Amino acid sequence: MGCRRDWLVVCIILNAWLWQLVHGSERYYARDLLDSFVYDYALKKLHRPRTGKLYNVVLPANFSGMEVSVVRLRARRLWKNGSNYNSSFAIPPWVLPWPFTKRVDLVYQNLGNLSSSYYNVPNYTFVAPVIGFLTYDPNRSSASYGLIELKVVSDDPIIVRFPNISTHEDGNVTMKCVRFDINGTLEFSNMTVKSSCIVRRQGHFSVVVPYQPNQAIRKNYWVMGIAAGVVGLVFLVVIGILAYRWIKGKRIKKMERSSERSEGLDTIWVGRSRMPFASGIRTQPAIENSYLP
Ligand SMILES: *[C@@H]1O[C@H](CO)[C@@H](O)[C@H](O)[C@H]1NC(C)=O
Ligand SMILES: *[C@@H]1O[C@H](CO)[C@@H](O)[C@H](O)[C@H]1NC(C)=O
Ligand SMILES: *[C@@H]1O[C@H](CO)[C@@H](O)[C@H](O)[C@H]1NC(C)=O
Ligand SMILES: *[C@@H]1O[C@H](CO)[C@@H](O)[C@H](O)[C@H]1NC(C)=O
Ligand SMILES: *[C@@H]1O[C@H](CO)[C@@H](O)[C@H](O)[C@H]1NC(C)=O
Ligand SMILES: *[C@@H]1O[C@H](CO)[C@@H](O)[C@H](O)[C@H]1NC(C)=O
Ligand SMILES: *[C@@H]1O[C@H](CO)[C@@H](O)[C@H](O)[C@H]1NC(C)=O
Ligand SMILES: *[C@@H]1O[C@H](CO)[C@@H](O)[C@H](O)[C@H]1NC(C)=O
Ligand SMILES: *[C@@H]1O[C@H](CO)[C@@H](O)[C@H](O)[C@H]1NC(C)=O
Ligand SMILES: *[C@@H]1O[C@H](CO)[C@@H](O)[C@H](O)[C@H]1NC(C)=O
Repeated sequence: MGCRRDWLVVCIILNAWLWQLVHGSERYYARDLLDSFVYDYALKKLHRPRTGKLYNVVLPANFSGMEVSVVRLRARRLWKNGSNYNSSFAIPPWVLPWPFTKRVDLVYQNLGNLSSSYYNVPNYTFVAPVIGFLTYDPNRSSASYGLIELKVVSDDPIIVRFPNISTHEDGNVTMKCVRFDINGTLEFSNMTVKSSCIVRRQGHFSVVVPYQPNQAIRKNYWVMGIAAGVVGLVFLVVIGILAYRWIKGKRIKKMERSSERSEGLDTIWVGRSRMPFASGIRTQPAIENSYLP
């Protein structure tokens, strides 16, 4: 944002506020963008995927650390047999794409070390990467083309496994399963099965433990300290600018006044600047002729 000098201070504050506003909701939109980017990219890479074959998608270098795989399935097969293509997600039989389509694309994601750039749970820390699966209707001429839901009809839930976390290691702290809905909603559930989460809908999943209280407080103090520092700095800058202008204004006034008062030296305007002009002091040019008799 361009700022005129007069509005510098207002501008700084406004920019800070805008930054805050944009970055608050940024994560939520970033997830959406990431999901659609991943699916579009996968479709581009796998020109005509074969039904029933799992493909690993190699993402561009700026997403290294994230793993993606895609499988295209007939809805009939999903209904009869569920899907075990990725052992992190056990999808039971009797699931339906919703709205119904003949074929679906199942997209598996493991965000790896990018997890906390896109997802966060206030007051909790991740102990596992964020993994997820989403269902898409690949039929471009269908009205539901794009992201759709997967409906679990039977009582059997979907099981999301986190093989890499050991439940004993952290003994005392209670691990919780979290599910991030597409609409941004966060759901907690207890980890009732060892290293697994029981869910009934698609989305992104992870395991979290509460922050240690002192850790949370220390973080709050940090944030408060930095905020106070910024506010203080802005305040100082404002005061500085105002004082500078005030002093400068005074000095100019004083100079003007004293130059007006300085007697003998009249001033004339030459172009846009004021020049001293001596009228009475200078000795009058003597005319040599006057000495002449
Ligand atoms: C990563 O690179 C691709 C192009 O290779 C670009 O479209 C995308 O916006 C980039 N993403 C990030 C997060 O930088
Ligand atoms: C994630 O890990 C990959 C290597 O596995 C690395 O190239 C990438 O820079 C890492 N990204 C971040 C944000 O740490
Ligand atoms: C499941 O899919 C994710 C994303 O592609 C991948 O990171 C993970 O290794 C897969 N798990 C297994 C057991 O194949
Ligand atoms: C259905 O699943 C079972 C095990 O879950 C597997 O042995 C069988 O091959 C699957 N059938 C099809 C058609 O994928
Ligand atoms: C996080 O914890 C702090 C202090 O315990 C509390 O004030 C705050 O409301 C919590 N935030 C959320 C989103 O639960
Ligand atoms: C795609 O959708 C259109 C419109 O619903 C339908 O007529 C067509 O049969 C679908 N194609 C496939 C391959 O499912
Ligand atoms: C578990 O760790 C192995 C090796 O470190 C890795 O290949 C795999 O992707 C991890 N699985 C999950 C679900 O993070
Ligand atoms: C957690 O640890 C404390 C002391 O270290 C102990 O008193 C408490 O019983 C433990 N709680 C659980 C649930 O293991
Ligand atoms: C998101 O979807 C869930 C389940 O459909 C619903 O319970 C929740 O209210 C929705 N949240 C928002 C913010 O729309
Ligand atoms: C998790 O377990 C605790 C105690 O074991 C219980 O109080 C709480 O209601 C449970 N939460 C959910 C979401 O089931």
